[in-house]
Amino acid sequence: MNPRNLPSRHEPRRLRRHPALRRMLREHHLTAADFLLPIFLVEGEGIRAEISSMPGVFRHSIDSALRLCAEAVAREIPGVLLFGVIEAHGKDDTGSASWAAEGLVQRAIRAIRARYPQLLIIADACFCEYTAHGHCGVLDAGGDRDDYATLENLQRQAISYAEAGVDVVAPSGMVDGMVMAIREALDATQHPQISILSYAVKYASAFYGPFRDAADSAPQFGDRKGYQMDPANRREAFREMALDIQEGGDMVMVKPAMPYLDILRDIRERGDLPVLAYQVSGEYSMLQAAARAGWLDLRSSVLESLLGIKRAGADAIITYYALDAVDWLG
Ligand code: PBG
Repeated sequence: MNPRNLPSRHEPRRLRRHPALRRMLREHHLTAADFLLPIFLVEGEGIRAEISSMPGVFRHSIDSALRLCAEAVAREIPGVLLFGVIEAHGKDDTGSASWAAEGLVQRAIRAIRARYPQLLIIADACFCEYTAHGHCGVLDAGGDRDDYATLENLQRQAISYAEAGVDVVAPSGMVDGMVMAIREALDATQHPQISILSYAVKYASAFYGPFRDAADSAPQFGDRKGYQMDPANRREAFREMALDIQEGGDMVMVKPAMPYLDILRDIRERGDLPVLAYQVSGEYSMLQAAARAGWLDLRSSVLESLLGIKRAGADAIITYYALDAVDWLG
């Protein structure tokens, strides 16, 4: 039979012909409210230094970070995620600079809080940017992480962020019990209103490479496979999520995003808490490099990657493309 004579065919394309019909039937949309902007902070004034492995991303002194916050506010991005990057002489074995009342992140929180009350301030809670050895906590004599000692320091860090006026504490070190420890510390110090965004499902990923360059946080020996998740594992993600919910987490995160969209979808379907996804440094740089080489169109490939992350189930996306994405959405 000649297919040209068939009386009627099922034709999904009918719904794609008219732009208005496509617009009407679009299942997912990106808006400014989907994005959170990470910010790398450094000491000093007037500093805006480009990160070589993340072209287009900068380390900012607090005054410059405030200008970046103004750009986020102008685009109606709901919040920023703060990382402190300190000089080698400020680092020690425990990362004590991270809980100093007048520490870099603490001062940045106060400055942003005073200027931009409408902006949600999220502080990454970890130690790898502050320890001389570059691991995410205190090490025991054998070089393994001492989780109990690390949890105590995490409580100190969370309290110092809370006292500075943070809205959300985001523990990223994959320390068992971190959510419970932080919740108890915040409640005991009269900060029950501060929420916890747990990096619940964080894989030991090669895609963090550029971040470690940006944050000067690469481990001086070994790797993070003893505490971050094995990329081969899926069931383990459910266990991590369940524990963090049980411990009092308010939001959970899946990280990285693009290579783990299946996990993001699973986590979305298995739990009721808001799920955030982190499009990490390597994902940023990979798109940036291909675009700079002329192999990909930056705008359309970034927006497609973000839409894919949203479609997979993210309630919000932490992305270094946050400002650009809002501009491109128009
Ligand atoms: C700190 C932390 C890391 C990232 C966020 N918080 C690095 C790591 O675990 O090595 C990575 C973010 C990115 O790659 O953009 N532990």
